[in-house]
Amino acid sequence: MTQAAQGYYARHIFFCLNERKNGEQSCAQYKAQEGFDHCKSRVKKEGLAGPGQVRVNKAGCLDRCAGGPVAVVYPEGTWYSYVDQADIDEIVDSHLKKGEVVERLLLAPDVGR
Ligand code: FES
Repeated sequence: MTQAAQGYYARHIFFCLNERKNGEQSCAQYKAQEGFDHCKSRVKKEGLAGPGQVRVNKAGCLDRCAGGPVAVVYPEGTWYSYVDQADIDEIVDSHLKKGEVVERLLLAPDVGR
């Protein structure tokens, strides 16, 4: 695979931090900011952050609000629904570090807005 095809980061995780102003269910109601902050700090602490490795980014609504809080990992396109910091730790230790999907946290394929 060429360097261009591999991409700048080996893995990229996006956290929805959106709050829907109309009161409908949204990720911000379920401590999404805390999840994002914890992931960012864990990735840094583990030495995983940076080019060729892992990037943790904020996102707006990913349109899968009913499963919130949600995060998605690329290039695999793996969707997760997490609850607490232990869940984030498992995503970091298994998926972001070793490429092993955390089956128990997978978002069901039919979950949408
Ligand atoms: S509010 Fe998070 S996916 Fe829509």
